[in-house]
Amino acid sequence: MPSWDPAAYAQYADERARPFTDLMARVAATAPHTVVDLGCGTGALTASLARRWPDADILGVDSSAPMLERAAEHAGPRVRFAAGDVTTWRPSEPVDVLVTNAVLQWVPDHLPLLARWVGHLAPGGWLAMQVPGNFDAPSHALMREVAAQHPFAARLAGVLRGADSVAEPSSYATVLAEQGCTVDVWETTYLHVLPGPDAVLAWVRGTGLRPVLDALADDPAMSRAFVAAYGERLHAAYPARSWGTLLAFRRIFAVARRTSDGG
Ligand SMILES: C[S@@+](CC[C@H](N)C(=O)[O-])C[C@H]1O[C@@H](n2cnc3c(N)ncnc32)[C@H](O)[C@@H]1O
Repeated sequence: MPSWDPAAYAQYADERARPFTDLMARVAATAPHTVVDLGCGTGALTASLARRWPDADILGVDSSAPMLERAAEHAGPRVRFAAGDVTTWRPSEPVDVLVTNAVLQWVPDHLPLLARWVGHLAPGGWLAMQVPGNFDAPSHALMREVAAQHPFAARLAGVLRGADSVAEPSSYATVLAEQGCTVDVWETTYLHVLPGPDAVLAWVRGTGLRPVLDALADDPAMSRAFVAAYGERLHAAYPARSWGTLLAFRRIFAVARRTSDGG
């Protein structure tokens, strides 16, 4: 589990919010009582759920203290945040809407977890998830390439995961349908136009690069050398234009509804 930097993550907040908005647009709950956001991060998107469902009790759960500190700014009478590990989390009552956005890629072998979460839904309840599906994209492949080279390899063996971080859309559809849910699964490739210099490097500093930065935290010189070598490759793979840098980003979405008889 990497450390999290809320400020780095909040950069490109609009681009990161878009999949959440697209995901939640497919959740047709009208007046849920309990809404849970597992891996809520900075809580900004959790707060948007409170605006959509002002009468709901909304809980955001995350394991990162810095993220929860930022999330506390969004707390209110009906919006709470709590420290917790999503892999062991259990609700005190059935949940009407369970959301997990850009989290499960950090949780190895998460298909059985999804099946368990369906069991936490109230009859007619909704589960909505989104994960990146871009582990073979240059942004990640180049990171692994540099990590495999001398002198980084000795420090970074096993630090970065690959395409097996997430499952294929059909696997999400299957596991959720097998729990008796109606399922709505899709994938999208966003073409983000990122402003600023070193835009893709700035993007991954908030997410995918965190495990490398953590692993090299005790050796700033090596950390800088890694970022320089990786940044050079990113420049070639994602050229900056006068209008910005184009980042193609595939994402996988699944929305499941537990049948009203709870089956
Ligand atoms: C990429 S951020 C996404 C945050 C938020 N859902 C959003 O869309 O903005 C991933 C978040 O998942 C959290 N996370 C990852 N694994 C977790 C786990 N096992 N238990 C709790 N939180 C976890 C991290 O702490 C981080 O805040």
